[in-house]
Amino acid sequence: DAAMKNGYPYFMLKEIHEQPEALKNTILPRLNKGIPDLTDDGIPDEILKGCSRIQIVACGTAMHAGMAARAFLEPVLRLPAAVSIASEFRYETPLIDEHTLVLVISQSGETIDTLAAMRLARSCHAPTIAVVNVKGSTIARESDYVFYTHAGPEIAVASTKAYSVQLASLYLICCRMAYVRGVYDNIQAAEFVKALLESVPAMETVIRGHEMIREAVSPLIHSRDAFFIGRGLDYTFSLEGALKLKEISYIHAEAYAAGELKHGTIALISDQVPVIAIATQEHIFAKTISNVREVKARGAYVILLTKESAMVEDGLADLHIRIPEIADRFTVFPIAAVLQLIAYYASVGKGLNVDQPRNLAKSVTVE
Ligand code: G6P
Repeated sequence: DAAMKNGYPYFMLKEIHEQPEALKNTILPRLNKGIPDLTDDGIPDEILKGCSRIQIVACGTAMHAGMAARAFLEPVLRLPAAVSIASEFRYETPLIDEHTLVLVISQSGETIDTLAAMRLARSCHAPTIAVVNVKGSTIARESDYVFYTHAGPEIAVASTKAYSVQLASLYLICCRMAYVRGVYDNIQAAEFVKALLESVPAMETVIRGHEMIREAVSPLIHSRDAFFIGRGLDYTFSLEGALKLKEISYIHAEAYAAGELKHGTIALISDQVPVIAIATQEHIFAKTISNVREVKARGAYVILLTKESAMVEDGLADLHIRIPEIADRFTVFPIAAVLQLIAYYASVGKGLNVDQPRNLAKSVTVE
């Protein structure tokens, strides 16, 4: 066990550190002259070309990767895309057919609800691409097509590197789809990939600074509740940040679309409640910042996550964590690292078993 942890106190911290490598392992083999090519994965372009809509199904962290994917796929491809929780989808009568591309996301490839959702999709004649980490798993075997993520084994119950590589895979699928559908030409596809790759050193920078996050989260440890807010892609990152914190620190955390705060949740903000605000998307930056002012005015302890260049007034945040300057679309990688480290150090600070949270399993094969 100690040998496997390679000097790290917990698998989770080790796996957080493995992310830049896992990203490169997942992205680089799929590039051909700088643009994604999925033919070696056995995914034919016709499948990517022929669909008129996209349906994503998954559970837990994989579902959060799917929510982020929906937010970047739809505007690029101009195709309707939906995300469903697999345990809901499987009991619905979904409006999908052979023109719906179904993306099934699962680290283990064994989650029973995700498997059942995929079987339902296939029974509706929808082609499925499974984005899976574990080779030869049931979902991988039963899916029409498989795109393997190369995270290597993930041992900590709280998923970290599997989430990052799921996202990298979905960006590659998005880019290939845009290319074969004529949305992107060669140059645009290559620029997309170049920007994706720039997010890897940005994530490394955040991880290298992890000790700083340790100090920053000490006020969180004594809190009963926390809120994560953001808009657009940032909102989807918030969902994952809140889940990570809940899973391993047992602090009740809720993610809220920042603009929705005023419809209720703001009543719960006080000086006892930390708010982690994410504002990395230029077009909605000012809107999120004005929500941060609202929570600050109610006394919240604010941890603000922005890009390096973001301009905000002094005193807005109690702690301002800046990630390197990269394209808005790819900020998830450095932001995910910050959120994982917040959850990790909250759990460590409370003296909990980071890798084995109570009542949770790595792979859920019961309904
Ligand atoms: C469990 C794990 C989560 C994971 C979810 C889906 O709840 O604790 O970390 O996100 O299952 O698992 P999968 O293997 O399908 O990605």
